[in-house]
Amino acid sequence: MSTQFDHIENMSSIGRDSTVMENNMSEDHYNNWPNDKGFDPKYEQRDPVELSVAGQIPAYAAGVLYRTGPGKSQLQADNGETLRLSHWFDGFGQTHRFQIFAPENSHTSPRVFYNSRFSTDDLIEHVRKTGSLDEISFGQKRDPCRSVLGKVQTEYVPQQTPSSSNISVTLSINVPGLDPKPDELTSRWGDSQGIRTLYAKTDYNAFKKLDPETLEPIGLASQIILHPELSGQVSASHARSDPITGDMFNYNLTLGSTCTYRVFGVSASTGKTTILATFPATPAYLHSLLITEDHVVLCVWNAHINPQLLDSSFMDSILPTDPSQPAVWYVIDRKHGKGLIATYESPAFFCFHTVNAWLEPSKENPAEVDIVADIVRTDNSKFLQYVYYENLISSLDTAHTFQKKRDDSFRTSFTRFRLPAVPSTPCTDPKKAVVEWSLCKSLSPELPTMNPKRVTEKHRYVYAVTFRGEATLTDGIMKLDCDTQQVQLWACHGQSPGEPIFVANPEGNSEDDGVLLSVVLDGMRGKSYLLCLNARNLSELGRANVDGAVGFGFHGQHVPTTQTTYVFLTTKSPLHTLPLSTLQPQLIAQEQEGTTIVTTEMLAKSHGFNEPTFPCKKISLTIHSSLEALDLIAAITNRLKDHGISTNVVSGYFHDHIYVPIARAEDAMRVLEEVAAEARG
Ligand SMILES: [Fe+2]
Repeated sequence: MSTQFDHIENMSSIGRDSTVMENNMSEDHYNNWPNDKGFDPKYEQRDPVELSVAGQIPAYAAGVLYRTGPGKSQLQADNGETLRLSHWFDGFGQTHRFQIFAPENSHTSPRVFYNSRFSTDDLIEHVRKTGSLDEISFGQKRDPCRSVLGKVQTEYVPQQTPSSSNISVTLSINVPGLDPKPDELTSRWGDSQGIRTLYAKTDYNAFKKLDPETLEPIGLASQIILHPELSGQVSASHARSDPITGDMFNYNLTLGSTCTYRVFGVSASTGKTTILATFPATPAYLHSLLITEDHVVLCVWNAHINPQLLDSSFMDSILPTDPSQPAVWYVIDRKHGKGLIATYESPAFFCFHTVNAWLEPSKENPAEVDIVADIVRTDNSKFLQYVYYENLISSLDTAHTFQKKRDDSFRTSFTRFRLPAVPSTPCTDPKKAVVEWSLCKSLSPELPTMNPKRVTEKHRYVYAVTFRGEATLTDGIMKLDCDTQQVQLWACHGQSPGEPIFVANPEGNSEDDGVLLSVVLDGMRGKSYLLCLNARNLSELGRANVDGAVGFGFHGQHVPTTQTTYVFLTTKSPLHTLPLSTLQPQLIAQEQEGTTIVTTEMLAKSHGFNEPTFPCKKISLTIHSSLEALDLIAAITNRLKDHGISTNVVSGYFHDHIYVPIARAEDAMRVLEEVAAEARG
């Protein structure tokens, strides 16, 4: 098992410039906006506890919200010294889990449970004993004396365990290709709970497997498992997934005398990994990438790496942005095996987070297709200097000084690029990418999110946290309407929010019909809460209070519980008089006696159909409908019948759907699990 950036794994150590930080500690918090407790949380809650809830959280937000990111930033070593990390990205990871249960009826409140787990216990224990961090570092500042000591200490290399690897930037459930033998049959039940595995990822080629409920680190994996050619050290924390197929896309970068990118895709249905393109290019720190319906878009922006410098720290290897060097956009075909089909160049910039990309007819020639790409951009990679603890912790004089001298080069903006006239066959001549607009620099947005259903389609709304400068870290949640360029802001003094995750209202008709879930530190109380905002106007709907400070994390994922109730309704009204566009029928059957419509209970009632029948749960078989599936359907319905569960089977062209009475839905799922287990033998 490789460690993060193998060739620098022997670096030492935890910085001893911490005394400077201690001496600079002041009672004053920058702008009276305390955030210290978010950078060195002591609070761990291994067993789920119920949180007190104020206000309301909509039923459709029921499910699990996972969060991960840095936890502890300092340790007491056995030799009595306090060891402090210097870069926020190196914080010892912690994972959080909020489980939201829908209200049982309109008169009850939602219930929210919380548990968390530090995810690097073995690494922390090693550091305590040795007083040194031999493992990787993103940006640890080193004491030269400790460097020498570190080289001696590396003769002892601790055994890699899941909790000795600090991997805690992004989280993914059910990562394609990683489970040695995917449970194919159970994965076919489209409406099952759905969380089979949970993985943490980072900007190198490793994955950490976590127990989805206890969050205990239980395994390590490498991209080499996906494909033997994926042996390079560097990758993106933010792999991209197709919103329809679930196929996952990322890159793997091999550092060496020649640096090689391999852009790859993993099929969600087969687990097979395909190398889509292999090409040499300037090595760079690329935290995210983009996909369109037909492409993977890898932009090598201007955080170029000098691999020769990697024996000190990854930060040290990232070169200052050279404005004379273009950013280069590589466009790779992901559907037809055409490989790298185009490159585009744009003026130099730096980016952590892409937002979305999609295809549009070219403005100048509608017969051609452009790629439109939205990202969060800064002028250069200096932003990486911002996120040292000494610049972030509100009580540190160094942070006060940094904020006062912080200039526009540390500010981000939403930027829309256009890559005109994407060729359909490989083209070697570089083309020009153009900036269409750049917005919100005064708000300095980061950690962008959007309605995930819009991935690879044109989106209208994007959400983010703000770094306006009111606080040393985040100081608000914003929403940008890309069409009107209007901005909305949620901000409360002393409240430091994390990434706002959008959860769509499944009954909603507009892109922003949903809620934002964000873990916020109340700096005044020193405790955190899960905030639920109406995504339309950023008004607060409710919050669930945590009895401790949740560390400022990076990213998370919300996995909804599928509890939609469907109903069958009948009407004698002519079809053309029915409000079908808003009733959103799952099924329409016209018979001599009348018309039957299957839709959700909520939509039926909102349209005045107050006496629908057969309240039921829909179980979709995600295999393609076919004659071969008939035997499977018959076996399932017979087994359900044996258990006294009535069914109504509906076959679309693509899939088969089984409607079972809502009261027997859980029983039905258990029966399906039995069928799946028997099929596995
Ligand atoms: Fe990120």
